[in-house]
Amino acid sequence: MAKKTLIQYVCQNCGAIYPKWQGKCDACGEWNTILEEKTANEGFSNIKSTNKGHKIEFFDLNGVTQNLERISTGIKELDRVSGGGLVAGSVILVGGDPGIGKSTLLLQACASIANQASNPECYYISGEEALDQVRIRAKRLGLEKSPVKLASATDIKDIIVTLEKTSAKVVVIDSIQTMYLEEAESTPGSVSQVRACAYELIKLAKKKGFVLFLVGHVTKQGSIAGPRVLEHMVDTVLYFEGERGHQFRILRAVKNRYGATDEIGVFEMQDKGLAEVDNPSALFLAERQGNISGSCVFAGIEGSRPVLVEIQALVSPTGYASPKRAVVGWDTSRLSMVLAVLEARGGLNLSSQDVYLNIAGGLKISEPAADLAVAMAIISSLTNRPLPSDMVIFGEIGLSGEVRAVSQPSLRLKEAQKLGFKSAIIPSQYKKDSKLNSAEISLHEIGNVQKLINWFN
Ligand code: TYD
Ligand code: MG
Repeated sequence: MAKKTLIQYVCQNCGAIYPKWQGKCDACGEWNTILEEKTANEGFSNIKSTNKGHKIEFFDLNGVTQNLERISTGIKELDRVSGGGLVAGSVILVGGDPGIGKSTLLLQACASIANQASNPECYYISGEEALDQVRIRAKRLGLEKSPVKLASATDIKDIIVTLEKTSAKVVVIDSIQTMYLEEAESTPGSVSQVRACAYELIKLAKKKGFVLFLVGHVTKQGSIAGPRVLEHMVDTVLYFEGERGHQFRILRAVKNRYGATDEIGVFEMQDKGLAEVDNPSALFLAERQGNISGSCVFAGIEGSRPVLVEIQALVSPTGYASPKRAVVGWDTSRLSMVLAVLEARGGLNLSSQDVYLNIAGGLKISEPAADLAVAMAIISSLTNRPLPSDMVIFGEIGLSGEVRAVSQPSLRLKEAQKLGFKSAIIPSQYKKDSKLNSAEISLHEIGNVQKLINWFN
């Protein structure tokens, strides 16, 4: 059958397909991300018409399974995020803004694995940088002596033919958006190319049993496809985030078939590469100044680890018809909800006030457990009364103004105790929990928003 080429319109952000061009993607809501792409009508799997298919076998759930072989990267934070080491044959997508440090992290990981006693073969294939650029980076990181095998290539066929003949343990493709497969007729970086290239590489990784890292840039412009179009094809999705102005970088697992999600690894970008941060709480609180209104410490949990962060709020009379709300590191709609509850249930007047909220240190928090700390910071700024600097806070706020219990209170309190905090404001549901009372921290239980406001009087 002759190969027919179809034209379709594909959103470069989320991969949604449309028969006609349109300005806005209905699926993800992004503007100007839809591009024309050619695609072969038979798909990527090249199903031959002569193949009638085979009968598949079914097994019991309780069969014997082998323990997963895990390769330690020698970078504790990366091991933690990947669920305790890299699983042979797994595919890991590392997404993040350009310049955030993806190449640096993966070069460090590659070098660290290649240096292990068993001499695992590690391949670093760069489609973005010339050999010299990678070499200069390796020198800067002090890794130039590591036996990493380095290549600069973009043709997927060449890469696959080469890797077929090796006994690779780890392969890094930096980045998937620069790779090119001739058969997939569209331009490099488009959704069809990115998917087709990833598909071929993943097939090989599963067959040969090597760990495959795919680097994917996050992009807003839509001229190259974002990592989201690959998320369902890979085993693990890690996002590398951080604020440009800060040296902290956070590696977050958003999907992991071999471990827990929401786990974070914390790094610091130094002049000699990424350094691991063992105690993130101490780091996030390092620049905190005591006795200032609008600031409080939230005892949060990121994955399996407690993390204390400073929450800062600034409330000031507005000069606009509708007051401003600006948020860094937290959810804007969650802030609106907390403000609405404080107004409706607590009787505070915030509609004539601008509210600014900042999570210090560049961490992004998504836990509802931060509600109470956010509310405390706002009331503290509004009333201009500082909170005790040795106090931590956690708890969720419901729409009727009640303060709700959150998970793992003892883990949060233990971390606070370790860092020298003396008191905590917590939801009142824990009264019967004797485990909490044994802590060396004095506990103040708060049942609703009204009590929280009274606390300042
Ligand atoms: P890079 O790993 O190239 O980012 P990505 O691959 O995500 O695009 O990181 C580049 C940035 O990191 C660059 O702005 C310089 C900075 N950097 C350091 O601060 N220290 C270092 O040792 C290295 C190698 C890079
Ligand atoms: Mg890079």
